[in-house]
Amino acid sequence: MIPAEDLQCLKVIALRGGCKGPVFVSSQSIGEMLEISQQTASRRLKGLESQGLITRTIAADGQHVTINASGEEELQKEYQDYCRIFSERNKGYILNGMVVSGIGEGKYYMSLEPYRQQFKTHLGFEPYPGTLNIRLSSSSRPVRKKIDALDWIRIKGFSTDGRTFGDAKCLPCRIGTIPCGIVMPGRTHYPEDIIEVIAAVALRRKLGVEDTDTVTVEVGQ
Ligand code: CDP
Repeated sequence: MIPAEDLQCLKVIALRGGCKGPVFVSSQSIGEMLEISQQTASRRLKGLESQGLITRTIAADGQHVTINASGEEELQKEYQDYCRIFSERNKGYILNGMVVSGIGEGKYYMSLEPYRQQFKTHLGFEPYPGTLNIRLSSSSRPVRKKIDALDWIRIKGFSTDGRTFGDAKCLPCRIGTIPCGIVMPGRTHYPEDIIEVIAAVALRRKLGVEDTDTVTVEVGQ
């Protein structure tokens, strides 16, 4: 494994096309990209050359640099590491939190037929009328931000009796072995530390939990 600063330098050359053929670089431009001085950048390029990672041809105001096969191999290794990191991430997320009571709104919304139908279609179960509110632990809040980026199912709003009900989104999840869904209203102002979970069953009863008890919600594989 080569030093991290050498890898960074190889990366910026590669971003300029240095894996494909000679690219013109000056130690000043490399320095700017890496936020190091021109002198340090110049030393680093020489270092890469002496390790056989790049080939340089000195020009009047800079140099033409090509990344050698061994340099490309170093970048490939780094790339493989990132592939592992991000495929691990795809395996799933875990959110921990505490059961809390809401104001009974969940029951109302979850009893509206157009919503119920869509949950049944997308999640494969008829939701119990209500949502289990979970206040996320502080360590799970960053995870909640990450799951925002996943592919949520869109639950379409509708109008009935002169009232309009907005869009919502839903993400399949599990509590233990119970298939559930996280539901979030479409509107933007929603507390960042709360998630609402639906399931076919009465979760409080099935899990034997009440307010302040902790539960674990798993998203993904
Ligand atoms: O707003 P609040 O959470 O108090 O209630 P709700 O959403 O109207 O749901 C009614 C009750 O059922 C609440 O105590 C929920 O925690 C609970 N519930 C449950 O045990 N299992 C579900 N699958 C959904 C809700």
